[in-house]
Amino acid sequence: MISIVGSGRVGTAIAFLCVSNGLDNVLLVNRNEKKAIGESLDVANAIPKKSNFSIHGTSDYSKIAGSDIVVITASMGVYLKDRTENMLPQITMIKEIAQKINQYCPSAIVLIVSNPLDILTYFFQKEIGFSRFKVFGIASSLDSSRFRYLISEKFSVPQSLVDDALVLGEHGDSMVPIFSRVKVDGKPLLSLIDDEEQSSIVFGVRNYWKDLRRYKSRSQFGIAKNVFDVIDSIVNNHQLSIPVSVVLNGEYGENDVAMGVPVLIDQSGISKIIDVDLSDSETALLKKSSRKIHDLINSI
Ligand code: LAC
Repeated sequence: MISIVGSGRVGTAIAFLCVSNGLDNVLLVNRNEKKAIGESLDVANAIPKKSNFSIHGTSDYSKIAGSDIVVITASMGVYLKDRTENMLPQITMIKEIAQKINQYCPSAIVLIVSNPLDILTYFFQKEIGFSRFKVFGIASSLDSSRFRYLISEKFSVPQSLVDDALVLGEHGDSMVPIFSRVKVDGKPLLSLIDDEEQSSIVFGVRNYWKDLRRYKSRSQFGIAKNVFDVIDSIVNNHQLSIPVSVVLNGEYGENDVAMGVPVLIDQSGISKIIDVDLSDSETALLKKSSRKIHDLINSI
């Protein structure tokens, strides 16, 4: 069973993708039970007629018992200018959820979606004590999809011709688009753009979420699909190579911090943290990003 904590735009979009693709039973958990039940009754009508699974809603955490995967999308409030707004109440909330998951489904794999993503991934993993390969945050793959999209739009090519668009580090203003690895129709991206264009793409990736909010209240489908891809990889045990936020113990020269790095996902959760070659400037930017996360963690 897949339990989704938080029945807002993102949680319900994830539920819809899981149910309509017949992945597994889904439980929507929300403080407001009426909301959880209402959304589950709606998404239930997307269950394929040959599906063996269903969806239900509740405010009773004990019903997450036996979950194989728990996705946390809950939020104590809306952030406007920076994802670290509401950080303290979010950390309090994530620790409370950790205790409930430990109580009811201690063998679950936990996907953190709530913001500030890296901070919550770190504090959740420390609180619950699960292997760091069973607790990770989904957002760098969303940032990478934005990087890939902006490049495809700039060159008017399909995304299938944009290879290895990777964003690492903080899911925040210090995130690091890795230009050195990107190819557009087989040509190195850095041979096709100048410094000004590179800076413009970096700004576009880092501020995509704000630009989006000029047109709709906040993101929903991009993050939901990136989470769904991870759930699908775990449920069906097909290996997925993406960046996620994970607590690091020496990888990329980092310790005691959670940030976006490339990993392999399978039925076990994270099966491997992948070490990719970075340019000297990218390595420096990634160090700067980890320092920012470290400073936020130490400020609590
Ligand atoms: C965003 C949220 C998911 O980047 O942090 O849209």
